[in-house]
Amino acid sequence: ESNKASHIQWQPYQIDAAARARLKGHQSTVLWFTGLSGSGKSTVANALEQALLARGVHTYLLDGDNVRHGLCADLGFSAADRSENLRRVAAVADLMVDAGLVVLSAFISPLREQRERIKQMLPPGKFLEIYIATPLEECEKRDVKGLYKKARAGEIQQFTGISDPYEAPEAADLVLNTAEFSLEQSVQLLLDLLLAKAVIA
Ligand code: PPS
Repeated sequence: ESNKASHIQWQPYQIDAAARARLKGHQSTVLWFTGLSGSGKSTVANALEQALLARGVHTYLLDGDNVRHGLCADLGFSAADRSENLRRVAAVADLMVDAGLVVLSAFISPLREQRERIKQMLPPGKFLEIYIATPLEECEKRDVKGLYKKARAGEIQQFTGISDPYEAPEAADLVLNTAEFSLEQSVQLLLDLLLAKAVIA
């Protein structure tokens, strides 16, 4: 990865991820939710975060709509801008993992190559891919924000699933179709995954 700043050195820290895990009583990881707009990424991630809070797990939720108000306010939805959006989020998630948190991130992250790059930016084993596999027809039927209607009418360009690609994960750690599972079932399956991966006990 090219770095435009020269003459900079990495300053070693005295407190590492293992020390923070001992303090918090659980491991850190990233749960990377991917799926179409309106598939339920934010809803599932929010419900999981509440369930984790109730178990005393330290979390943080990074959400596309929110991050695009600040950290990524200068970015749109071209392939290059989406990649930069996700690169910044992955860098933030990497810091949060080092800080000992269970990070939930809810971004469309449409391309396999983008998600592979995110995985490479994180420490080994700290990227769990959660595919919210709600079918396009269902997302479009819900059309919570009215964006599919606008995309179909040509009022929004490069809309994922309509006029821009979405590449489904081939080996996600968990696949959840919110048209088939209740929110409670989805949260339970995610908790089971975190238990199986020994992130939480
Ligand atoms: S990406 O592709 O991962 O960088 O996207 P993300 O940061 O998650 O932003 C997706 C949300 O932005 C709204 N929006 C669009 N989505 C897709 N394509 C286009 N062109 C677009 N324009 C705006 C949309 O509300 C997405 O919200 P979610 O929460 O996914 O429904």
